[in-house]
Amino acid sequence: MTETIETEEQNEQSPEDPGTTRELPLVALRETVIFPEMIVPLQVGRDKSVQALNKAVADGSPIALVTQRQADREDIGEASELYEVGTLAKIAQVVQLQDGTVRAIVQGQQRLRLLDFTESEPFILARVELVEEETASGLEVQALVRSVQGQIEQYVQSGAPVPPEAAVAARNITEPGLLADMVAYSPDMSTEQRQELLETIDVHERLKLVSSFLGRQIEILDLKGKIQSEVKSEMDKTQREYILREQLKAIQRELGEDDPQQAEINELREKVEQAGMPEEIQARAIKEVDRMSRIPSASPEVGVIRTYVDWLVSLPWNVTSDDRLDLKEAAKILDEDHHGLEKVKERILEYLAVRSLADKIRSPILAFIGPPGVGKTSLGKSVARAMGRKFVRMSLGGIHDEAEIRGHRRTYIGALPGRIIQNVKTAGTNNPVFMLDEVDKIGMDFRGDPSSALLEVLDPEQNNTFQDNYLEVPFDLSRVLFIATGNLLDPIPPALRDRMEIIQLPGYTQQEKIEIGKRFLIPKQLENHGLTLKNVDFTDTAMVELVQAYTHEAGVRSLEREIANIMRKIARQVAEGRKRKVTVDSKKLNEYLGPPRFEYGELEKENQIGSATGLVVTEVGGDVVAVEVTRMPGKEDFILTGQLGEVMRESARAGLSWIRAHADELGIEREAFEKYTLHIHVPAGGIPKDGPSAGITMALAMVSAFTGIPVHKDTAMTGEITLRGRVLPIGGLKSKILAAHLSGAGAVILPLKNQKDLIDIPLEIRKQVKLILVESMDQVLEHALVRVPKRLEAKPAEVVEKGEPIDEVSPAAPDKVLRGFPGADQPPAIASSKAARSVAAGRGTRG
Ligand SMILES: Nc1ncnc2c1ncn2[C@@H]1O[C@H](COP(=O)(O)OP(=O)(O)OP(=O)(O)O)[C@@H](O)[C@H]1O
Ligand SMILES: [Mg+2]
Repeated sequence: MTETIETEEQNEQSPEDPGTTRELPLVALRETVIFPEMIVPLQVGRDKSVQALNKAVADGSPIALVTQRQADREDIGEASELYEVGTLAKIAQVVQLQDGTVRAIVQGQQRLRLLDFTESEPFILARVELVEEETASGLEVQALVRSVQGQIEQYVQSGAPVPPEAAVAARNITEPGLLADMVAYSPDMSTEQRQELLETIDVHERLKLVSSFLGRQIEILDLKGKIQSEVKSEMDKTQREYILREQLKAIQRELGEDDPQQAEINELREKVEQAGMPEEIQARAIKEVDRMSRIPSASPEVGVIRTYVDWLVSLPWNVTSDDRLDLKEAAKILDEDHHGLEKVKERILEYLAVRSLADKIRSPILAFIGPPGVGKTSLGKSVARAMGRKFVRMSLGGIHDEAEIRGHRRTYIGALPGRIIQNVKTAGTNNPVFMLDEVDKIGMDFRGDPSSALLEVLDPEQNNTFQDNYLEVPFDLSRVLFIATGNLLDPIPPALRDRMEIIQLPGYTQQEKIEIGKRFLIPKQLENHGLTLKNVDFTDTAMVELVQAYTHEAGVRSLEREIANIMRKIARQVAEGRKRKVTVDSKKLNEYLGPPRFEYGELEKENQIGSATGLVVTEVGGDVVAVEVTRMPGKEDFILTGQLGEVMRESARAGLSWIRAHADELGIEREAFEKYTLHIHVPAGGIPKDGPSAGITMALAMVSAFTGIPVHKDTAMTGEITLRGRVLPIGGLKSKILAAHLSGAGAVILPLKNQKDLIDIPLEIRKQVKLILVESMDQVLEHALVRVPKRLEAKPAEVVEKGEPIDEVSPAAPDKVLRGFPGADQPPAIASSKAARSVAAGRGTRG
């Protein structure tokens, strides 16, 4: 229960006469200061205070309110414990609360000065002197009043913790002292400051005091505002977006309409964060996602960005497969996949060994060069399997411009990354074995310059920051193992060739083909056709015939195709239940594949006048060509047909000049050269032919035509001729000898300077082919013509009889002589002698 006592009207002397002393009950205040005109509720708890209040109410007198100097002081016994100046207040209402405390509403009346206590028990009765409020005027006071009013307004506007009406109230107070006192309402003011304000009796001073207080407060508020706005803008960036996005999500969830674009953006953002990209690239991707979220979903731009980010996300930035570096295991796998190729396998293993020892060593790019179907691509796959890496393949043949390798800029409609990046994505790891097929076909029909882009890809110094036009961010290709393949070495741009370690695969002998057929191709095709060895058997003669009469190639691709043909037919018979087992012999070959397509040997059947057999290397491997010469009446000295290139024409001319210079020894009458025109024709499929290595063949055919002496039908030859009749070395010897052997030649004439290459010729071939090593044209004539012209004297040539062991290679004449020799069969730039040897061993890309 609370009891409210309305106080009766207090005696009408208020404000009390200033200057007079009075004796009044006193309440000591803690932490508050009461000002004249202020109406405030007071919570009074201390017994002394309650009694003082009651006394005042009972007497109908005002009360003295004075603040304690020390707020925590419980009992006040002396006047000195209180401040000197306090307030005379009227009690408007007193409410007795149940806990014995009292709540009073008091209204300040006038300042008073505390003189001393008359009594301090049971409550304080104090002697006080009332202070007169002076009426201040004058210009300065007016100016101060205005300024304080303005300050109050500004204070309120800057966000002071006071009600906004305070500004209006301030405008309406004209009494300067009151205006100053009003500032005491501000919660920003401390008790001490309020007390100081109360004690400042001089109005002029008081205004100055509040003015300085307000000035400070305004400054503080402004500063606070500034700091807050800074903090807020900081938060804007990081959190605002997050909060908004969360809110958006919540709203969408509430509405049950998840925005598909937003969902997609969120998903994309998550994917970007999980893709393991390098930091800058992730930042880049996030930027794109943000951009996407700002574009209306109907805009085509959204699709473009989505595709772009999808590309970034799907690349194997940090997915690396572990290498198997166990060389024994690698060797086993290489043997499992390929027959023979010992030298090649050895070099691959050496290469892997180096890589396993020094991961960081930037090894050159491997390049497998050789005719079709010799297993270049499948070797690449094997290398990948041996190392435990992923395998991808990209054909450079038919690529038209740089953008196919490096991609189109995103500004193009439908732009995509180039094929390098596409393949890396397919691989799914950043260290696949990456096969670049048909490097020799690059630069043949190019609009841009793709080989420069390819250079960047292959250069170990640059490819760790490979730039794709579409991606716009670098991708590290340095872990990729690149293997290039091609049929010929010559057409590969020198700058590219320079970065490659060339490994030649010249082609297989007949025996090797049969082995490959039996051990690899037949089992493979059996499996492909759902057959087993129980269903099919090949006789040995059928295998030989298959290789000789149904295929004509350096590799084994046609062989594989023919085997597949046979399997298809057998599979049908087995499936139809007609046969359970088929033994393939010659008769069956005929039945399945038709009559033999190639005759064994394409050499002349008889010894011919004016015809000689040359050896060439083409894209499909070594081959034999006939060179035909006829002599007819006429004034011209030469007609050359068969699409012969410039080098070949010059070579024919050199041959003819040598013949004219040696007409006597050869038994040719001088007039013959004036009376007759020579027609040299090199048939064979209308394929353009060039290169110097048919030199001795053409010269031989010409001698035969002039002298009427026939040429041995089973002798094939290759070699370049000089004006003085010297025979210079040529390239591609192994391929050429394989071809000679396949066509049934019993002897091959070759330059003595190619002796070092004989080591590569399998014994199996040498058993059937006699090798004649010559230095000069006389020796060629001596061995190739059926009869030697009477007056010709040739130094004996070095002959390796069939099956005879090959001598330790006699040091061949230094290659230097050759380099830079016009028309020499040597590429212009060869870095090292080792490279030179490897190039020389198989080069000879032209006839
Ligand atoms: N030594 C070999 N042992 C087993 N199989 C072989 C051998 N050489 C080639 N092959 C097989 O011959 C087929 C053709 O080989 P591949 O495709 O690798 O030829 P390529 O050299 O890449 O030809 P191209 O120049 O036309 O691309 C493949 O099936 C391959 O497995
Ligand atoms: Mg291939």
